[in-house]
Amino acid sequence: MTSSVGIVPPPALARAGQETSSVVRDSLILAATPGILSFSGGFPAPELFDVEGLRASYDHVLRTAGRRALQYSATEGDPDLRAAIAARLASQGFAADPDRIVITTGAQQGLSLLAGELLGPGDTVLVENPTYVSALQSFAAVRARAVPVATDEQGIVVEALADAIRRERPAAIYLVPNFQNPAGHTLPAARRAAVAELAAAHGLWIVEDDPYAELRFDGAPRLPRISGYPAVHDRSILVGSLSKLLAPGMRLGWLHAPAPVHRAVALAKQAADMHSSTVDQAAAAHYLATHDLDAHLTTVRHAYRERAEAMLAGLAAALPEGSHWSHPAGGMFIWARLPDGHDTAALLPKAVAAGVAYVPGAPFYVGTPDPATLRLSFITNQPSAIRTGMARLSTLF
Ligand SMILES: Cc1ncc(COP(=O)(O)O)c(C=O)c1O
Repeated sequence: MTSSVGIVPPPALARAGQETSSVVRDSLILAATPGILSFSGGFPAPELFDVEGLRASYDHVLRTAGRRALQYSATEGDPDLRAAIAARLASQGFAADPDRIVITTGAQQGLSLLAGELLGPGDTVLVENPTYVSALQSFAAVRARAVPVATDEQGIVVEALADAIRRERPAAIYLVPNFQNPAGHTLPAARRAAVAELAAAHGLWIVEDDPYAELRFDGAPRLPRISGYPAVHDRSILVGSLSKLLAPGMRLGWLHAPAPVHRAVALAKQAADMHSSTVDQAAAAHYLATHDLDAHLTTVRHAYRERAEAMLAGLAAALPEGSHWSHPAGGMFIWARLPDGHDTAALLPKAVAAGVAYVPGAPFYVGTPDPATLRLSFITNQPSAIRTGMARLSTLF
C-alpha cells in the first residue's frame, strides 16, 4: 500500500543557501571548462605544488609506518602534525598549544563545526560585508542569523562593529583579517586590538579565519593574530589551513580553540567524520619535518606577486572608465567595482562567451548586494594567460 502523504523536502534543503552554494559550484565548473580562462575560483597554482616533495613524504609514511598510516586515528589529529602547526604559529608570535588544536578536513570543516558549537538556531553572528560565501553557508546550515557589518578598504569598521554589537546582541563575530575573501583587505593592528576589546567587553566569541596570513607578498611585517590578544584568549578561535600552503586536495585544516570549545569541536568532529585522513596527516607532518616550507612559500609568494601585478596592469584597459579595484598586498583576490548601473552577474554569460570568467560580487553580501562588484582570483593563471584574460574581459565593455 502506498502512502498518500506527499514528499516533504528535508529541512536542510529548504534552508540551504541555494544561491550562494551555486556560486561555489559554478566556480568549480568554470575552472575546469576547456577554453575558459577562469579567474573565478581561489585555486592555488597547480604547477607550484611540491608534487615531488609530497610524493616522497607519502612514500616514506607508507614505507615506514604504512599500517599505522592506513588505520583509524585520533579525532583531534596526528600529534606530530599538531605539534608542527603549533611550532609554526609560535615562530610567528602566536603562543599555540598543540593540545588545543584540532586537525580538520579543510578549514571549511572547522567553520562548520564551530557554527554548530557556538551558534544555535536564531543566534546572531556578525560578519564583514562582503564576506566568504561558504562561511555564510555554514552559519545558514545551523539556522544562525548572519548580520552584516560595514567594511572599508582596511576591513571591518570598528564604529559599525560597536553599533552592531549594541543593537544585535550577537553570540559571535566571524572575520578574515588577512587578505580577506573576497575583498582582499587586511585589518590594521589598531583595529585588531579594538575587535578584541569589544569582544571581551561584550562576551562574544571570535572566529578568526586566517588561511592567507602566510601569503603576504609586499614585504610588510606580519600583523598580530587577534586570537593572540590576552583579552580574548578564552573566547577566540583561530582557524587555519594547509590548502594554500601545501595543496587543497589534501583537505587539511586546523583550528586552535580554548579548552571547552576544543572539547566540543572534537566531539562534533567524531560524529561528522571520526577524524581527517590518517595518511594525509602523516604525510603532511613528515613533509613539514623534512622540507623547508618557508623556501617553498617564498617561491609561491613571488609568483603570486607577479600574477597580481599582471592583473593590476591589465585592469585599467579591461574595465570601464570609473571602475576601481583593490591593490592586494597578498592573498589571492582582487575586488573590483564597476560604475553604477553595471550588473556583473548579468554580464557573466557574455564574459564566458568571450572565454573569461570571474565571480560576481553579489553572493558575498549579506542583505542588499552591490551588483556592480566582482572578484578576480589572480593566482591560478600565469602572467601571459592573465594578460589574455584581461584582453578578453575588455571586449565586454
Ligand atoms: C576565507 C576562507 N576560509 C576558509 C576556506 C576553506 O579552505 P579549506 O580549503 O582549508 O577548506 C577558504 C577557501 O578558499 C577561504 O577563502
